Amino acid sequence: MRYVEVNGARVSAIGVGTWQFGSKEWGYGPEYARTTAAAIVNRALDLGVNLVDTAEIYGMGASERILGEAIASRREQVFVASKVFPILPIAPVVEWRAVESASRLGVSTIDLYQVHWPNPLFPTRPAMHAMRRLQQIGLVEHVGVSNFNLVQWRLAERMLGDRVLTNQVQYSLVARKPDAELVPWAQANDRIVIAYSPLAQGLLGGRYDLDNPPPPGVRANNVLFLPDNLERAQPLISALREIAAAHGATPAQVGLAWVIRRPNVVAIPGASSVEQLEANVAAADLDLTDAEDARLTAESDAFQPTRGVAALPGLLAARRAASQPEPADSTPASDSVPDPNR
Ligand SMILES: NC(=O)c1ccc[n+]([C@@H]2O[C@H](COP(=O)([O-])OP(=O)(O)OC[C@H]3O[C@@H](n4cnc5c(N)ncnc54)[C@H](OP(=O)(O)O)[C@@H]3O)[C@@H](O)[C@H]2O)c1
Repeated sequence: MRYVEVNGARVSAIGVGTWQFGSKEWGYGPEYARTTAAAIVNRALDLGVNLVDTAEIYGMGASERILGEAIASRREQVFVASKVFPILPIAPVVEWRAVESASRLGVSTIDLYQVHWPNPLFPTRPAMHAMRRLQQIGLVEHVGVSNFNLVQWRLAERMLGDRVLTNQVQYSLVARKPDAELVPWAQANDRIVIAYSPLAQGLLGGRYDLDNPPPPGVRANNVLFLPDNLERAQPLISALREIAAAHGATPAQVGLAWVIRRPNVVAIPGASSVEQLEANVAAADLDLTDAEDARLTAESDAFQPTRGVAALPGLLAARRAASQPEPADSTPASDSVPDPNR
């Protein structure tokens, strides 16, 4: 495993995202929450991963609880990152939520505590003052933000009066916005960008196309999985496949290797199985050439999916189709375990 070291923090280039743990929207079912999730965390730690990311909102606390149980006997091996959902980001609420998260996680210090989203209705100052107090009493080691633009990140630092070590943002071959400002700034100023959805929620695994769309759930709301966009993504997926073949790797591994090739960037892919986790960890040892990197970047530039308002009719059509009763002889579109609660 490769690590990124900044300001006393040492985090693995590949971490584990745990939104999937206990969350109905991913549809992985109770067995995944009961056993696979802990197995994923333990295998990750065995392989040298230390960064594990969760949030109070994932599964309404279930993800933190599952993670807490999984790491109970290996606490010192884990860099635990969680997030406060800033629905009311005033200082007492943020402080109380941190205590609740630490309790679910079974830790006395949260290594990285992040504000999940900027709240446009509230100033940043109270949340950052709470963060500072949480650091002073030792409940939080490092402070981070998530989904903040550069102006908001720097403002958060001013309000904290110290370094906001990380910004967790969507970053992958199909989400390149951080290239413009966040990544260069992190590199120039000893900060870390944590790339979420680094596999574009599985799109970059190359498993999904028009004939094999992902199962319903969280991806029904992701415009990248609309038929039109799945088709437009094929040249990029083909490039991933070809480069993967040259390395004896998979498209997903190449997609992750592209992300973490950027200095000061780490990725936190989620996984639906231990095998996926193992493959994702191995991506840390995959060395792309400059030419391969440039080819992927060019294919990524050329990929222009339908997004925003233009994608709304497609999303509505997909939802209508998903709500139609399935024919009696239909088979599931993937091998994911369906969630009986969905
Ligand atoms: N801060 C935020 O606002 C925010 C937002 C989103 C996510 N996050 C964090 O980032 C983490 C990762 O993001 P994400 O879960 O949205 O997307 P992701 O990591 O891009 O995609 C995860 C999904 O990709 C598939 N996959 C994983 N490894 C694979 C492999 N080796 N080969 C093929 N397919 C593979 C799996 O789905 P299938 O097997 O079902 O296809 C898995 O559930 C989350 O768990 C969460 O911790 C944060």
